[in-house]
Amino acid sequence: MRMYDIILKKRNGGELTKEEIEFVVNGYTKGEIPDYQVSALLMAIYFQKMNKRETADLTMAMVNSGEVVDLSAIEGIKVDKHSTGGVGDTTTLVLGPMVAAAGAPVAKMSGRGLGHTGGTLDKLESIKGLSIEMPKEKFIENVNKVKLAVAGQTANLAPADKKLYALRDVTATVDNISLIASSIMSKKIAAGADAIVLDVKTGAGAFMKTLDDSFALAKEMVDIGTNVGRNTIAIVSDMDEPLGFAVGNALEVKEAIDTLKGKGPKDLYELCMTLGSYMLILAKKADNVETAREILEDTIRTGAALNKFKEFVAAQGGDPEVIDNPELLPKAEHIIEFKAEESGYVNKIVAIEVGLAALVLGAGRETKESQIDLAVGVVLNKKVGDYVEKGEPLAYIHVNDMSKLKDCEERLKRAFQVTKEKPEHRPLIFGVVT
Ligand code: URA
Ligand code: CA
Repeated sequence: MRMYDIILKKRNGGELTKEEIEFVVNGYTKGEIPDYQVSALLMAIYFQKMNKRETADLTMAMVNSGEVVDLSAIEGIKVDKHSTGGVGDTTTLVLGPMVAAAGAPVAKMSGRGLGHTGGTLDKLESIKGLSIEMPKEKFIENVNKVKLAVAGQTANLAPADKKLYALRDVTATVDNISLIASSIMSKKIAAGADAIVLDVKTGAGAFMKTLDDSFALAKEMVDIGTNVGRNTIAIVSDMDEPLGFAVGNALEVKEAIDTLKGKGPKDLYELCMTLGSYMLILAKKADNVETAREILEDTIRTGAALNKFKEFVAAQGGDPEVIDNPELLPKAEHIIEFKAEESGYVNKIVAIEVGLAALVLGAGRETKESQIDLAVGVVLNKKVGDYVEKGEPLAYIHVNDMSKLKDCEERLKRAFQVTKEKPEHRPLIFGVVT
């Protein structure tokens, strides 16, 4: 087999065989096929697309490029949740404890943030002492005991995807439905979950900006999961404006704690209820969304979910005091008001700009090596549809290094749009794909 022929075939609109796809994935992972040939193939795929069979074969070739985690020592149906990436998306920190408190095991392997999207691991590390590094035995033991554990992805999970994603990132070939679907699903399948709930984001802060593309991506991923025997459901949810109010690591942990106390932002709470309901259904802890929702609401009302969060924090070496007293979380030195320049209705809050505003303060990583400042970020004071008076704060900037304030404010100016007319209501959840 020759790489040249495979590139030519795809360039001319042909369909790649399973053997050809495996040849590319294995050869590239081992370093036998150079970047320039794989780049050319990725661009050909970008324009000529792949069909469902090719996408499924690509997914499994990437799964088999590394370790497939065996979670069979954990009792019960392990349901994983994955979001395609958003701004201020604190759902994992709320869902984990809720679903675990409802009796379903949550064995979560999470990532770190890169660019304008945050990562669960970084957020959790703002809790003093908490460690996300542990041997596999300890991870499994914690899930069996607490029903919830969160760890970093092992280095050898879908290594082909790691290399391909890095190459796509620099060759303008990220936003192709087959490539995104296979990338995400290869990691989920390799991580060993029995069932998967996907939160596909749509809008200005998401990879997929239109509803059609978002539903197509959702369907592609659900089909891949189902084809390999993992029950998969996808929700298409809004990422035009950030989720909740807080964007930034410790700030989002506080928001998650508030939500577990029943005092969180409405959109974050609603999305968690929806995602959590499908997690409980796939875990066979509920028959339908109505029952599932009642169970989840109970975990909030009785304090069971909040206690579960405490139990989880303690089991991973963190200080559980933080949950009763979020004042113990890292705090920024300054809180600066970002004020409205005119009165009117908030018409838009462009999620990606808010993400970048938090990034320039140090809440995210510009490169993989960047150090994160866990305390800083942006807390919205208004959401889309709210009325604001001139001079009233639209957001609060939590900042340590004041030399970064101006850049942050410039970003926020681009994020907020205030108009005289009240904007049309935009739904939070656009649909469910099964
Ligand atoms: N997230 C991934 O893991 N892969 C993609 O291709 C896009 C988003
Ligand atoms: Ca948030």
